[in-house]
Amino acid sequence: RSGARVERLPLARFTTLGVGGEAEVWFVGNHEQLAEALEAPYRVLGGGSNLVVADEGVPERVIRLTGPLAEADLTPDPDLSDAETVVTGWVGGGVPLPGLIRKLQKLGLSNLEGTVGIPAQVGGAVWMNAGTRYGEMFGGLHTLEIVTPGGTRQVTPDELDWGYRRSGLSRGHVVSRVRLKLRRSAPEEVRARMDFADQARKGQPKMKTPGCAFKNPGGVPAGRLIDEAGLKGTRIGGALIAPEHGNFIVNLGGASSRDVHALLDLIRERVGVPLELEYELWP
Ligand code: FAD
Ligand code: EPU
Repeated sequence: RSGARVERLPLARFTTLGVGGEAEVWFVGNHEQLAEALEAPYRVLGGGSNLVVADEGVPERVIRLTGPLAEADLTPDPDLSDAETVVTGWVGGGVPLPGLIRKLQKLGLSNLEGTVGIPAQVGGAVWMNAGTRYGEMFGGLHTLEIVTPGGTRQVTPDELDWGYRRSGLSRGHVVSRVRLKLRRSAPEEVRARMDFADQARKGQPKMKTPGCAFKNPGGVPAGRLIDEAGLKGTRIGGALIAPEHGNFIVNLGGASSRDVHALLDLIRERVGVPLELEYELWP
């Protein structure tokens, strides 16, 4: 009715881990298509960079933002911007974060360069408040547009209980668009901070992975706990606890979701401290 493109596709193709069976994928490019997609049980897919999707796929429709909902209007709003601060137009939830970060650097707009190297989409990065110790998504947000089956509303960050890897938004609340709040800075200074933040990734594996498996409990690096438990290099089927970094699980090629789950269980069993999963398991 609304013209959304719907196709049954393997989700492995949409995840950085490269694992996951089929689902009905809804490619939605505007609010009308999004509203129709939300009329039945659904899941929202961003860059797929934090997901472990079951080999059986998922029964719900999977929503993917495209078209205008994957475009960024970075024009400063004249009423809200001044010599120091820039508030942008709308940036779609489907915009790939790495390209956005590069554009902001060239424009001399600071606040988000600490998120360099996170292969997310804007919506997924906002939903998780993705970040590093050099900056996080909520450091650069002015307004969020949230869509649910009940309708569309706008919220500001101070209305949300956000924190470390947490936006305060409920599951299924779609981040359709955001407006960014940035600070003017010389492009070469933004670049220098970006390069510095990127240094912290030197020890991370370069293979297919959904990033860190667990949140750092109370600021203690989960990777160090997994390392100290002697688990780095442990392999189950096609999945491996990265020899480079204990908190990364990588796909050696042909990993199944079962292999990844088995490694997560093993880590929880062997590490003495309760660990909270950062990966999201579908279903
Ligand atoms: P997905 O993985 O597609 O989805 C994750 C969750 O977000 C799901 O619940 C999904 O429903 C929800 N979601 C996605 N899009 C939307 C939307 N538009 N509206 C509402 N909900 C949505 N994370 C960090 O925080 N810091 C890092 O330094 C970091 N480094 C990484 C490095 C690598 C190599 C990889 C592969 C991952 C890394 N990650 C890191 C993890 C991951 O990138 C983040 O968790 C990111 O926020 C996931 O965003 P995504 O768009 O890929 O979301
Ligand atoms: N460490 C070990 N052994 C390991 C891994 C790490 O001893 O196998 C030690 C390191 O030597 C270091 C400490 O643990 O002293 C911290 O390691 P690192 O600098 O790699 O950072 P991290 O805490 O493991 C966090 C984020 C990453 C983010 C980096 C850089 C979490 C769960 N992880 O990793 O985010 O990229 O800092 O800012 O907060 C992600 O969330 O997916 C992610 C990759």
